[in-house]
Formats: sequence, C-alpha cells, structure tokens
Amino acid sequence: MSTNVLDEFVATCRAVVMGEQPIVEITRAMEQLVAEPSVLAAQIPEPVMGLSSSVAGSDEILFEDESLTVFVVHSAPDVQQPPHDHLISAVIGVYEGIEEQRYFRREGGSLVRSGGADIGPGEVLALGPRAVHAISANGGWCRAVHVYLGALSSIDRSLFDPETFDEKPMTSERYEKFCRRGGSS
Ligand SMILES: [Fe+2]
Repeated sequence: MSTNVLDEFVATCRAVVMGEQPIVEITRAMEQLVAEPSVLAAQIPEPVMGLSSSVAGSDEILFEDESLTVFVVHSAPDVQQPPHDHLISAVIGVYEGIEEQRYFRREGGSLVRSGGADIGPGEVLALGPRAVHAISANGGWCRAVHVYLGALSSIDRSLFDPETFDEKPMTSERYEKFCRRGGSS
C-alpha cells in the first residue's frame, strides 16, 4: 500500500498511545486524517476482493502490537454485520460512504438496542471499552480507518447472534456466519 499518509497516521498513534490522553490524541489525529475524505480516499487503493474478503467486506491491517491495532475497514453494501464488543477503546474515522452504527447495552445476559448513529465522510467516532456495536454500510461501500487501543486479535471477546442475541466467542468464521444481507434494521 503506497499510502504514506497512513504510515504517518500509524506513527502518530504509536507515539501517543502510551501517553496520558491516548483517546484524545488519537481522535485528534483521526479528525485530521479524514478531514478531506475524498483526498484520503484517492490515496488508499480499494482492495481486490478475493480469497481474503468476506461477505462483510475486507479488513486490511496496517499495524498491531500489544498497545495498538490499526485497520482500514471496507464494509460491503447492505450487509448487516453482527453485534460485538472489543473490550478496548476504539476510534473510527470514515472517509467514504456511511458507516451505520447500531449500539447495544448488556442487560440480563442479553442485549438491548440503545440507539445508533450514521458516521459519514470526515466524521470520527470514539467507542469506550464496554461498547457493544454493530456496523453496516447501507447503499454503498463504506471505507473507514479503525484504531483500537490494544492487540485486537489476541483479545477473547464476544459476538452476538443477530436474531437471539446469544453471546458467543468471537471468531472470523462466526462473524461471517452472523452477517445478514439486507438493508437497515
Ligand atoms: Fe467493532
């Protein structure tokens, strides 16, 4: 990926993640990164959809260590991705399309819907470590940069059945299985 702007962004995140206010600093860096979303979109190649892609789209990992994970997330149109948690804070910046966020809260061993938001190009969202959310890209591809304050791939976190809200261990296979084609719910 010939995206020096993303290399610089990762370097900035790495520099501030161990500081006193990493969410504030990474949110600020993300706001700068996506401030001109069409300019950023032109600098990030669209992925070739193939073996590494799924019904949900394609995630390109830019960096991961024990303190930080950075992805470019390409969400396929009109696929309702399943609710899940991260157990670490996240900062999301959209540069193309709309990332529809559905929020949930845990209640009595299950989930309850608790609102949502449409995050559009140039907009940034921070999620706390207790957040449970689900994303979809309604009407067209959504492309966004996702930052997590930890090693996302090594966390034992949860995924929820989209119909029953049963809590299951997160795996990429189960995430794919819980995706539902169709518009907004
Ligand atoms: Fe997520």
